[in-house]
Amino acid sequence: MQRSNDATTIVKEVFPVNFNDLQEAVEQKIPKPNYDYIKGGAGSGQTMRNNRQAFESYSFIPQLLNDTSAVNTSITLFGKTHPTPFIFAPVGMNLLEHPDGEPAVVKAAAKLKMPYSLSTVSSYSLEEVASAAPEHTKFFQLYWSEEDELALNMVSRAEAAGYEAIILTIDTTVSGWREGDRKNQFSPILHGYAKGNYLQDPIFLKDLENGKYKDFVDGVLRNVNHPHLNWSHVEKLRKHTKLPILLKGVLHPNDAVKALEIGVNGLIVSTHGGRQLDGVIGSLDALPNIVKVVGGQVPVLFDSGIYSGLDAFKALALGADAVCVGRPYVYGLAYAGQTGVETVMSNFYDELVTTMQLAGVSSIESLQKIELIQRG
Ligand SMILES: Cc1cc2nc3c(=O)[nH]c(=O)nc-3n(C[C@H](O)[C@H](O)[C@H](O)COP(=O)(O)O)c2cc1C
Repeated sequence: MQRSNDATTIVKEVFPVNFNDLQEAVEQKIPKPNYDYIKGGAGSGQTMRNNRQAFESYSFIPQLLNDTSAVNTSITLFGKTHPTPFIFAPVGMNLLEHPDGEPAVVKAAAKLKMPYSLSTVSSYSLEEVASAAPEHTKFFQLYWSEEDELALNMVSRAEAAGYEAIILTIDTTVSGWREGDRKNQFSPILHGYAKGNYLQDPIFLKDLENGKYKDFVDGVLRNVNHPHLNWSHVEKLRKHTKLPILLKGVLHPNDAVKALEIGVNGLIVSTHGGRQLDGVIGSLDALPNIVKVVGGQVPVLFDSGIYSGLDAFKALALGADAVCVGRPYVYGLAYAGQTGVETVMSNFYDELVTTMQLAGVSSIESLQKIELIQRG
């Protein structure tokens, strides 16, 4: 995939190129509770700040006079080659940003050939999203449920609909302590934004009919909270599906080692964008130790705080095999629907290519050999 030509780049300049500018522009576009929900982090925001400060703490020295006229940004993941190292992180409830929701996002991802991850708590169902981009690489993000049968049935539905991997999120067994949402008295699940995958789920509907839940939304809420989650569930998932499993939210090397023992096929180093547990180290600061213990046995993906092409460059240089983006594409969706998503992500891609060329590297492998220097 080549960087967009200069004419395209100039046209794009009417769109807020910088992450902070885009965030500010979106604040004017959508209702305050929706905006606060997307922007917000856990507690005092320490984890969010740590995420960003980690990026700021790294610099590098370029080695020049290498011909970089042909840059190859492709990566291979689970046997498939993708032209860029970008992946769409799972972000729930896209009706909060735009009526076109997740189908608009997956179409943008397909156009850019970047794998797409769909959240359990999507506004549209996994089948609807799959049919919006049937040929494109899609992963299904699983929140475990109050009962195993419901979680495993969602996995079976995802398999049947053509999703190519299961991302089990392990850092959201209960929702984080988010001051903004408390101030606004706003719970998007209570407002019905997360119904997509439950509306037609036979297990969920059976439980609803049998009076297990007070009402539909109560059922969704009860299943989203699953504090009993433990390693035996990962083993159960391993037995249930042949699809590759990624654990999302791994920060401690011991957890990475345990995941490998169980036969997990990939890890996502993530602080959930600083939305879940406050007081945690920056995701980028956790990455090198995870990369070290994994030693290339499975892919290590990364997210939390990638707000530019340069950020992606740094995460890849620290050993990430691919980078996942959350808030930026969601802001793109809020700002201009599918086109907005495409613009944000293609800007990130173009900046990554520019950074690689100016740093004197032409492939992700050579980028990964660049040494990052951390300020003390
Ligand atoms: C509004 C919002 C909703 C999210 N929903 C989910 C979700 O349903 N499942 C999940 O695993 N992660 C979810 N995430 C976390 C993202 O997958 C990702 O880890 C995070 O956004 C990365 O950080 P960034 O926003 O700084 O890029 C959500 C993030 C945001 C901002």
